[in-house]
Amino acid sequence: MPEAKVPLAEIPIDSLVGVERDGADIVVIRTSKGIFAYHDRCPHAYWPLSQGTVSNGVLECPGHGWEFDVETGRCLNAPAYCLSPVSAKQTGESVHLEWNTATAEATPLPCEHTGDVSASS
Ligand code: FES
Repeated sequence: MPEAKVPLAEIPIDSLVGVERDGADIVVIRTSKGIFAYHDRCPHAYWPLSQGTVSNGVLECPGHGWEFDVETGRCLNAPAYCLSPVSAKQTGESVHLEWNTATAEATPLPCEHTGDVSASS
């Protein structure tokens, strides 16, 4: 599985960053509850979520304003839609990302989260 590391210092609490590695685009979000990461595609019309905003545990897509629960990836406007999760674990002062290339292009519908997203702080 492809993997990448991001310095924790690049992701202040209540912010997000876009990461591009090995052809994969990933959005990494840090809240007071931990670190979360998803493939950087909104399931609505594929706008990059890394251009969006995060506030109070909610990620807002820059495209048409759909909102997603940062912890679960579930869309709050259309709950049948979810983001594709990327494993994100904090190790020391870095965030270790790991993803499955088979799911990178998938638009999960219905939502099927299986604990693939990890968070620690
Ligand atoms: S592309 Fe995200 S809300 Fe439309």
